[in-house]
Amino acid sequence: MVLPYAEPTDLSIAADAVRAVEPWVAVAYLIAGVLFILALRGLSSPATSRAGNRYGMAGMLIAVVTTLITHELANLGEIVIAIAIGGAIGFVIARRISMTAMPQLVAAFHSLVGLAAVLVAVAAFLNPSAFGILGLDGNILAVTRVEMALGAAIGAITFSGSVIAFAKLNGSMSGAPILLPMRHAINLGILLAIIALTAAFAVATEAGPGEGALFWIIVALAFVVGFLLIIPIGGADMPVVVSMLNSYSGWAAAAMGFTLHNSAMIITGALVGSSGAILSYIMCRAMNRSFVSVIAGGFGAEAAAGPAGAARIDRPWKRGSADDAAFLLKEANQVIVIPGYGMAVAQAQHVLREMGDTLKEQGVAVKYAIHPVAGRMPGHMNVLLAEANVPYDDVFELEDINHEFAQTDVAFVIGANDVVNPAAKTDRSSPIYGMPVFDVGKAKTVMFIKRSMGGAGYSGVDNEVFYMDRTMMLLGDAKKMVEEINKALHD
Ligand code: TAP
Repeated sequence: MVLPYAEPTDLSIAADAVRAVEPWVAVAYLIAGVLFILALRGLSSPATSRAGNRYGMAGMLIAVVTTLITHELANLGEIVIAIAIGGAIGFVIARRISMTAMPQLVAAFHSLVGLAAVLVAVAAFLNPSAFGILGLDGNILAVTRVEMALGAAIGAITFSGSVIAFAKLNGSMSGAPILLPMRHAINLGILLAIIALTAAFAVATEAGPGEGALFWIIVALAFVVGFLLIIPIGGADMPVVVSMLNSYSGWAAAAMGFTLHNSAMIITGALVGSSGAILSYIMCRAMNRSFVSVIAGGFGAEAAAGPAGAARIDRPWKRGSADDAAFLLKEANQVIVIPGYGMAVAQAQHVLREMGDTLKEQGVAVKYAIHPVAGRMPGHMNVLLAEANVPYDDVFELEDINHEFAQTDVAFVIGANDVVNPAAKTDRSSPIYGMPVFDVGKAKTVMFIKRSMGGAGYSGVDNEVFYMDRTMMLLGDAKKMVEEINKALHD
């Protein structure tokens, strides 16, 4: 049976019919939901991530096809053309995008999810009978109005917040926090206004200009609040913001799923919303931030606005060569490699794995230590090391390996800085204060690959470890430096 979505003659039938979902449709959406759960499970490890992606694609295909065939569509051709154009654009972007630009791409995609939720809410508001959301009295049901206003508001916050996150990550606007006076009071005031207007919108009984104004003011205020929530956030806290916006986009979709009585949308939105929230929580723990203040927005402002010590290039430090590094590495019993953003920029993961293999052949124990926020996106280092076929058993999380540095001969830091900066533990004024970091300074020797003494990490702060007696600075591009070390290891 095809659900009667076209103009109903009897309004009570319209409201009922849209809820009377045929069993096979419910089963198809359930299968899609299970596939999405399997996708998330697969994506939790590099070993199963490809399978996870395939589950996700299969689930989405089932959900889209089911939705298309359960609706009487006068414009199927246009929908197929739109899907083909959107799919082609997504395909080209995904193939061309570099790993280091992934966070801004994710932010851009979230903005589209938010905007889609707003547009669906607007379409449902302007033409409720086409969506089958009219009650017996010919008005949109109160509960549906709440869902619709929530979906539109969360979608609008996601949209404008993601646009700002994109601009900050992409360098189109400064990553520095923009701090408005009384910003917390302003944000709270607007949010309370949105809640009050939603309540008024829910009980508005007469369709008319007043009702329309309420809806449009809710949407406009939500756009403003999304913008205001993200502008005070400094660069170092952006990863948490991106995953939080990911979560918001899911809740916006779930709210619209309730409005449209579409269980696939509810399941998918809830999965995206909750997995984004869990990821944000994990990242907050990794950066020692309060989860509640993330949701409130502007949480990093005070810290990020503090004095970000510029690199102090006038202090004494020791420079080493690839030959020096190869000599010490060969002599070591254990080497821990700490990759960071610079390894990704240089694409040094393959030569790094070759170095690890060579050392292992020479009897050196080689381990890779990954910080949860190393690089520029969650799992960034895991993906690159997996791409280079570094065995999963050699890769360790922060809490599983940090105690080993005291018994380690060489901490080999390649293109990482913030994640090995002791200022996170000792300097209260530092923007990274409170973030757990690797205790590389406890190793017998620390090797640091970076291009210059002047270049600081993402947070722009100097690192005391550069100036330690036991530290050897290996200045140069990470890939070139490791290639030279590999050559020296074979000589
Ligand atoms: P960073 O602290 O950003 O340090 C990167 C280091 O790589 C710098 O010292 C830089 O020094 C060096 N580098 C850059 N290009 C290089 C190249 N071609 N060859 C060799 N070295 C190169 O990186 P990290 O330690 O991985 O820390 C990540 C930071 O990014 C954290 O503050 C985190 O909060 C933030 N962040 C993380 C994410 C996620 S989710 N992972 C997202 C956004 C932001 P030179 O310029 O001197 O070479």
